[in-house]
Amino acid sequence: MTDMKKTAPDGLRTDRLLAVQYAMLTQINALEIKERAMAEPSHRDETLHWERVHLASSARIAKDMAVQRGVDPELASIACALHDIGRIVTGKQKDHAHQGAEPARKLLERLNLFTEEEIRIITTAVYNHTDKDVIGSEIEEIVKDADVVDCFEFGMELPREEQRARYRRYLGEHFSDSVETLPAEVQNTSSISKALTLLKILGADQVKIIDPKQVLTAPWVAFKCQYGCSLYGKNRCCPPFTPDYAETRSILDCYQTAILFHRRGEGDISSMAHKAMRQLFLDGYYKAAAFGSGACRLCEHCNPQDCCHPEQATPSMEACGIDVIGTAKACGYEIGGTADGEDFVNFFGLVLVE
Ligand SMILES: [Fe+2]
Repeated sequence: MTDMKKTAPDGLRTDRLLAVQYAMLTQINALEIKERAMAEPSHRDETLHWERVHLASSARIAKDMAVQRGVDPELASIACALHDIGRIVTGKQKDHAHQGAEPARKLLERLNLFTEEEIRIITTAVYNHTDKDVIGSEIEEIVKDADVVDCFEFGMELPREEQRARYRRYLGEHFSDSVETLPAEVQNTSSISKALTLLKILGADQVKIIDPKQVLTAPWVAFKCQYGCSLYGKNRCCPPFTPDYAETRSILDCYQTAILFHRRGEGDISSMAHKAMRQLFLDGYYKAAAFGSGACRLCEHCNPQDCCHPEQATPSMEACGIDVIGTAKACGYEIGGTADGEDFVNFFGLVLVE
């Protein structure tokens, strides 16, 4: 640790956060060395590798949440970095929040960088962080939420309703128009949330749960492909190799839930849709299906009769007779706009969920 006076682009001073994380990592390293030297180290409920990752990644999430909620991002991220110190010290999940307050206090006092009031705020958040069904102070709430989000995004299940409720609320802050329209039967499932999150991570500007009945199909769409696009008949994911509008309608009618998303500029919408579909499939939505945008780009030259990547090829919405603009408008999306003095167009993808 040389230069401790760090400032993030958003103005957050990170020197004290770095000092806490460095002290935590040093403590973990010492524990690891000690346990390796033991003939029979006692079982840990979580590995020290996970503790190292979690103390950093949850603090990062806490910092972003704090900025968004107008809470002190420095204290929030430091409290989050420390929140599992009880489990690190004892090796046990049981009662680790209560067991962590004292080691957290000692570590903070040893660093000599914090006021007594700051230590009280941080250690209280550590002590209370497992009471996910209780609303606490703003810092406590961020620690609880960031803990849930970080665990879930690393693939852990959220077995308790209060954890899922916190994750839904987090999604509500980021995907407000999606969560409130989740059908009741999927409200408690984490898989759709995961797919929504994945799409955002992959670059979607907006994601929305829709009823597949809102997807419009029409015979004129194929006409536009046939007489308006040079790739007609040359690409596996374009007509006439794709389902026509009537077939697509009957496919859509097999589903009750869909995700419609867009991003500015075409990007790789088809790949995004495919990845979200695959995530849903792995989570048990075995009928999940994806529609992208534009011709398939998996190969430089497509041989539509002998596809090299049939497991990844994703037809575009328009290629399947979907009226993309009509559907987007019906679902409340803008088709384009102007930002920073530049015109942009939104490109859409669709994932069927079931
Ligand atoms: Fe945690």
